[in-house]
Amino acid sequence: MSIDEVAEAAATPAARDSQPLLEVEDLRVRFDARGRRVNAVNGLSYRLAAGRILAIIGESGSGKSVSSRALMGLLPPTASITGSARFRGTELLELSEKEWRKRRGADIAMVFQDPARSLNPTMRIGTQITEAVRAHSSGDKKAARERARELLRLVRLPAPERRFHEYPHQLSGGMRQRVMIAIALAADPKLLIADEATTALDVTTQAQIMDLLLELQQRLGTAIILISHDLGLAASYAHEVIVMYAGRAVEYAPARTLFDRVRMPYTQALLGAIPRLERPPHAKLPVTPGQPPDLTALPPGCPFAPRCSRAGDDCHTKAPPFAEGEPGHWWACWHPCEGAS
Ligand SMILES: Nc1ncnc2c1ncn2[C@@H]1O[C@H](COP(=O)(O)OP(=O)(O)OP(=O)(O)O)[C@@H](O)[C@H]1O
Ligand code: SF4
Ligand SMILES: [Mg+2]
Repeated sequence: MSIDEVAEAAATPAARDSQPLLEVEDLRVRFDARGRRVNAVNGLSYRLAAGRILAIIGESGSGKSVSSRALMGLLPPTASITGSARFRGTELLELSEKEWRKRRGADIAMVFQDPARSLNPTMRIGTQITEAVRAHSSGDKKAARERARELLRLVRLPAPERRFHEYPHQLSGGMRQRVMIAIALAADPKLLIADEATTALDVTTQAQIMDLLLELQQRLGTAIILISHDLGLAASYAHEVIVMYAGRAVEYAPARTLFDRVRMPYTQALLGAIPRLERPPHAKLPVTPGQPPDLTALPPGCPFAPRCSRAGDDCHTKAPPFAEGEPGHWWACWHPCEGAS
């Protein structure tokens, strides 16, 4: 499906809803352990409307998972979190663990990269989904089992009746990921965070799981945050894209704008490292020369300066603000690129 078709399909009343589902503002996460301070997320802001797909891309260690786990109350006690994350107007960062237990999975659910580790190997598939349904509903066990069966059909698990009674090791990686999605959907969340949910799968299965997520987004109106290293995935499936670097958003735009009129040299480096025509459809983020900055000692200026071919003297002393340079297109750069990528 092309990005135009994706955009058209998403133009449902829910997608046009002007009230954002999620508003993240100046989110900061730091970890203090054994005398070391890691500044993992450093002022991340974005909005997500109902029924939209937002891709968050960036190199390893850029803060994609930490910033998303903060939205689920899933960070360890060594994390200090500041800023704001409002979900339908409720401040998530102030919820107690008791409130989290009630809300986690019900408002926002997460699908992780590794279903083998997330599923209980000693429990049948059907039982695991039934338990997820019962955790958020007052119905009886029979109704929960029926709902679990329905969820398996919804995620198009082949032979769902048979699989219901099987254990995770009897399923392929793609099937296990479908089961994880069924569990995530058990309480009808309004937002699904897929953290590298298809990375471990082969390209064909990856495309099938992505098509499934897209279909669910359209049928159920679920918003999706797609965390990925995969530029092709962001280009094919997301409405909006955030590029993260050193715990910050450095570029944010509708997917098409971002790929047609890239402004941030970091994004351009990611896109340009493989010539467009030679880029395989699901290319991983190419290696950009140099290393991301040390998150325990961030430089005073732009964190990308040591790797940036456009850097001027000012870049080493002043951090560029993340600002809306063109309508709907944000970037954090003193000397943005001018042309197409
Ligand atoms: N519990 C923790 N304690 C200390 N540092 C942590 C902890 N969890 C994550 N970090 C650090 O926070 C930074 C951001 O990590 P994060 O997992 O968000 O990166 P990511 O963008 O998801 O990377 P990847 O693409 O590899 O999954 C990294 O430097 C990581 O080492
Ligand atoms: S602010 Fe300067 S160093 Fe940073 S990306 Fe822009 S040009 Fe490069
Ligand atoms: Mg991660």
